[in-house]
Amino acid sequence: MQLAGKKIVLAVTGSIAAYKTPHLVRLLVKAGAEVRVITTSAAEAFVSPLALATVSKHSVHSNVADGAAWNNHVEMGRWADAMLIAPCSANTLAKMANGLCDNLVCAVYLSAICPVFVAPAMDEDMWHHQSTVNNIQKIRSYGNHIIPVTHGELASGLIGEGRMAEPEDIVAHLNDFFEKKNDSPLKGIKALVTAGPTYERIDPVRFIGNFSTGKMGVAIAEALADKGAQVTLVLGPSHLQVFHANIKVVKVESAEQMYNACMEAFPQSQISVLSAAVADYRPAEMAPEKIKKQGNTLDIELVKNKDILATLGGLKQAGQLLVGFALETNDELNHALGKMKAKNADMIVLNSLKDTGAGFGHDTNKVTLLDSTGDKKDLPLQSKQKVAEVIVKHILKLRNAEKTI
Ligand code: CTP
Repeated sequence: MQLAGKKIVLAVTGSIAAYKTPHLVRLLVKAGAEVRVITTSAAEAFVSPLALATVSKHSVHSNVADGAAWNNHVEMGRWADAMLIAPCSANTLAKMANGLCDNLVCAVYLSAICPVFVAPAMDEDMWHHQSTVNNIQKIRSYGNHIIPVTHGELASGLIGEGRMAEPEDIVAHLNDFFEKKNDSPLKGIKALVTAGPTYERIDPVRFIGNFSTGKMGVAIAEALADKGAQVTLVLGPSHLQVFHANIKVVKVESAEQMYNACMEAFPQSQISVLSAAVADYRPAEMAPEKIKKQGNTLDIELVKNKDILATLGGLKQAGQLLVGFALETNDELNHALGKMKAKNADMIVLNSLKDTGAGFGHDTNKVTLLDSTGDKKDLPLQSKQKVAEVIVKHILKLRNAEKTI
């Protein structure tokens, strides 16, 4: 258990899910953690401070000052290896998003220099309200970790999203975090990842694009960042939001912009994974005004975009590892091997559009990994996150092999 010896501040706020927190404390203590509990006054209506004090074996505080005694929130925020806010009510969430500080929980939160985990709990309509959605995004952008709500029966009697994750899952989430933190083989390594489509403008309102969503590339950036790498993610037009302390997102629109961003980041990057679906051609000229409907046909002259992967393959130095993708619909293996050689990549991730559940837009993918040592690995259909983890594992293997040569 990674939680052994870890110091956790648990902040309990006003939600019916607070009744589960004595059990949560027990699980954390059982895993070897030292737990200090603080509450908001609203939480006390749902769970007894005495129960929390008994299971945590420490007194429970809810005020910045108890009589003449001051509860040092700064000290608590610095003492903790992690702060866990569970359940986190819509009210506390809104305060966290806006830096309000009218109680002990908010004061400790603002003073915390450790990772903060938030397990929201509220009714479905509150959970989906635009202000809650914005607040979650905001606190994510501050680097807080959100433990996803679950679907099920709510206090209102409605069935839907908004239930706090079960205590067992919250503990597993914290455990995973500390496990990953101890497992950072890419600490100090810089990585470049491209993701998403590119849009090539025809006129001010139209473009040539493709159906890529960026999900696979974002998952790869996150998997590299989870292993400690500092990632520059060059992302084409995509609705995906990326919040990870180790990822810097550079948003681009066209292939040319993606090329320029890559040329800037590549020299410093020991690992580069080019998963973007780059448009091969762009209009020779963008019309300055909207093209009017005239004849029965319309010709647009296209010119070739620079191939980013091939360019980086030509610039690659010893110690730099380059991974490309190949999206194929026929004679997949030969085309993919041909691309690896022609573009001087060390590894190619082959995506066949023939496989159901694979490719653009899906949450799953089915790929084959090919590398320049001749290794070939067929992976099963699985989530893009899992695929990303296996790709990163293979990258680690190639890096280690290179070191031993
Ligand atoms: N790629 C790139 N720059 C381009 C085109 C492709 O960096 N202008 C990269 C992709 O990100 C991917 C790899 O090259 O990693 C292969 O892309 P793919 O579209 O499968 O192949 P193409 O080389 O474009 O060839 P074709 O479209 O003829 O299959």
